[in-house]
Amino acid sequence: MDWTYISEVGSHEGQDVTLKGWLYNKRSSGKLHFLLIRDGTGVIQGVVSRADVSPETFDAAGSLTQESSVEVSGRVRADARAPGGYELAVAEVKPVQIAHDYPISPKEHGVDFLMDHRHLWLRSSRQHAILRIRATIISAIRSYLDDHRFTLVDSPILTPSACEGTTTLFETTYFDEKAYLSQSGQLYLESAAMALGKVYCFGPAFRAEKSKTRRHLIEFWIVEPEAAYFEHEDNLRLQEALVSHTVQTVLRERRRELDLLERDVSKLEAVQPPFPRITYDRAIEILRERGIERTWGDDFGAPDETALANLYDRPLFIEKYPSKVKAFYMQPDPSRPELALCDDLLAPEGYGEIIGGSQRIHDLELLERRLDEHQLPREAYEWYLDLRRYGSVPHSGFGLGIERTVAWVCGLEHVRETIPFPRMLYRLYP
Ligand code: 4AD
Ligand code: MG
Repeated sequence: MDWTYISEVGSHEGQDVTLKGWLYNKRSSGKLHFLLIRDGTGVIQGVVSRADVSPETFDAAGSLTQESSVEVSGRVRADARAPGGYELAVAEVKPVQIAHDYPISPKEHGVDFLMDHRHLWLRSSRQHAILRIRATIISAIRSYLDDHRFTLVDSPILTPSACEGTTTLFETTYFDEKAYLSQSGQLYLESAAMALGKVYCFGPAFRAEKSKTRRHLIEFWIVEPEAAYFEHEDNLRLQEALVSHTVQTVLRERRRELDLLERDVSKLEAVQPPFPRITYDRAIEILRERGIERTWGDDFGAPDETALANLYDRPLFIEKYPSKVKAFYMQPDPSRPELALCDDLLAPEGYGEIIGGSQRIHDLELLERRLDEHQLPREAYEWYLDLRRYGSVPHSGFGLGIERTVAWVCGLEHVRETIPFPRMLYRLYP
């Protein structure tokens, strides 16, 4: 390679290098151009002095507009005042393409405008920080699971049946049949857990959510671990270990990005096991004590979750919801069969549910009854019932939503900035 990345200029102090990137910003006087250049690995200031370069080079620097692509060569010098500790004494400037009227200027823009220009908005330093933290969250989760002997098993996107209720199914045609985009890989992962013991999938999920909220996307990414012989308690322990590991990894590796987002990192430092736990019953009581009237059997809305999560400084487990508000596959609590051995993990600071998990029904007859109660067509689930016919064992798993986790870790108001190209109720473009 005949050029240097900005992140590596430190090892070239005093040497001549060529950088390839884009113009982030420029200040000029009669004698000097200060070029702020970014290349994806960092930002550096290049100083072009009329006294030191040819008139052509000085004019070429002057012709650069915001987001023009450019190659610049010059000598690296240490400068304590520079953001990365170095600047470039520019000797040569080669514009690659001059950008005319780049639509996103440093002034404030409205959210709709920015979302319409999402393909360009990704070039801003705030978006770089978010996308890098997202990448670190994903790799931290995957390496934790890989290191703990969970095998990655990919689940299908096109499916013949529902996992999380029929109201949010995305329907499509599959030649002469009906098919649905996957809402969750769970049912397939249960099959894989009976084959490989501890498994996980990581991929996109699709839900035709008609609600327009700060937490819902139509297409989102989900990590779903599933483990044979794991019971409810084992499931909760895995969740708190995985979430703590992930947050602590981001703190270690992405401190600069968290600072750029002005995230209060003391809130993240507190994310250590054990996480507090309350039952659904206790959650209803707590809400009532605070004047929020809820009837036993109601599901919680976002304001309820915020009121509950605000009582703690770390993520909060709410366990044992009434079975009737949850999906068909959840194992009943043996001491109170009207409750499910399940949990939602709520992020602190009002970010809401980031995980939904449960122990699964392993008894064939009970599962058949639940399919009927939920009016799900038996034929589409015959293969799933087979798992209860041939060596059925207790097993558990959960799904962690990547975008909600990114929103919480980064401290973002809305999930739309947590994914490169969000799919929302009224947005399919760009
Ligand atoms: O609680 P959910 O619906 O659980 C399941 O899908 C289970 N089958 C998972 C399992 O046990 N394997 O979804 C899990 C998580 C939620 O806690 C949330 O973080 C995320 O997926 N999620 C969404 N994120 C963004 N937009 C949406 N529309 C989401 N729906 C769920
Ligand atoms: Mg849920």
